[in-house]
Amino acid sequence: MGKLPKSPATRLDFAVVPRLDPDPAYKRINGTTTPTVLRWLAIQSCGWQTPIAHFPHQQPTSEMASAQQNVEHAEMSSVDILRQPLKLPCGLVAPNRLVKAAMYEALTSFGGGPPNSLHFRLYETWSEGGWGVIITGNVFVDPRYQALGQDLIVLPKAKWDEYRHLARCAKGPNPGPSAPLTLMQLNHAGRQSMRSNFRPPWSPSLAPSAVPMDSEEGWLATMAYHTFYGVPKEMTLKDIDTVVQQFTESAVMAYETGFDGVEIHCAHGYLLSTFMSPRTNRRKDAYGGNTKGRTKIVLDIIASIRKAVPPTFCVAVKLNCKDFGKGGLNEDEALEQVRMIHQQGGVDIIEISGGTYEMAGKISSPPLRARSLAEGH
Ligand SMILES: Cc1cc2nc3c(=O)[nH]c(=O)nc-3n(C[C@H](O)[C@H](O)[C@H](O)COP(=O)(O)O)c2cc1C
Repeated sequence: MGKLPKSPATRLDFAVVPRLDPDPAYKRINGTTTPTVLRWLAIQSCGWQTPIAHFPHQQPTSEMASAQQNVEHAEMSSVDILRQPLKLPCGLVAPNRLVKAAMYEALTSFGGGPPNSLHFRLYETWSEGGWGVIITGNVFVDPRYQALGQDLIVLPKAKWDEYRHLARCAKGPNPGPSAPLTLMQLNHAGRQSMRSNFRPPWSPSLAPSAVPMDSEEGWLATMAYHTFYGVPKEMTLKDIDTVVQQFTESAVMAYETGFDGVEIHCAHGYLLSTFMSPRTNRRKDAYGGNTKGRTKIVLDIIASIRKAVPPTFCVAVKLNCKDFGKGGLNEDEALEQVRMIHQQGGVDIIEISGGTYEMAGKISSPPLRARSLAEGH
């Protein structure tokens, strides 16, 4: 296991796009949201030719400056800082601080599968964009618990060649120091996995507790959620061990197929996010009860991945700063979770996001643009 005493990189060091409009919860956890820069980058990442209209000259806050260990000139503007390389605790260097955020591509055939020619073209296009880090859309560690139906899934070793090719496409034609770091985002949809798509309709989804999907957007949405998602099964300790193992084996696949690292998806109401939230985790055992218990599965996964991959492999986590729903994760607990993950060590990047699909309005729009980029128009 790699010894990683240094602080992981956070949103203070990176601009991750796309993102929602700034929210006070982000500001509190990130220290800054640099909204104009991020919005412009979101436009760029969608391939539109909108010129830069205006960059506010933003001096780094004192919190931000102290986190900029790799930046020599604390007086740099936001844009200058974004151009600087950043050395991660694992030793890898991102050539700049622009991150292509994970975006579900919806490009496999129905039922999920490995990357195909559309993914390859899409990532070749992105590799030309000058990103510091490219994070794939979520790749599901268990094909039975996918999200929307055209998902990338982790496959047996004999079928890893497509992932090898995807890693090469994301790096681009010049895989030197100026090429982006490539991270595979790993996910388990948990209770946000619709029934009957990938498993028999009577087989429930998995969650820390048997709390069904709900919606704060009206009774019609709630009824639809109950119909499509059903009541999840409360996971046993054996189920939890299996999930830890699945994330670990998936990280090994990412390593063996040439990715620089993985991002563990612990946000947006998917399985790990439901463990971290008091709204959905009602357990009384070691994996619930308090903030420490609710964070344990994530800490176990990080430790297990670290044992299975070389210390030079990047491990990132994506966390919610808040669920934005009644009884959900709040900012204080989210901060405590960030502290715990940092204290355990082994993580290179902490990406802060927010919201769940129970609060669908808080999460961004469907991946139509990815398809049109992949199809070359
Ligand atoms: C088309 C599209 C697909 C997305 N797919 C994913 C995904 O696969 N994994 C993920 O973590 N986030 C996904 N997101 C969310 C973004 O990565 C990002 O978190 C979101 O746009 C909100 O920004 P914020 O996290 O800064 O609030 C997607 C967003 C969009 C627009």
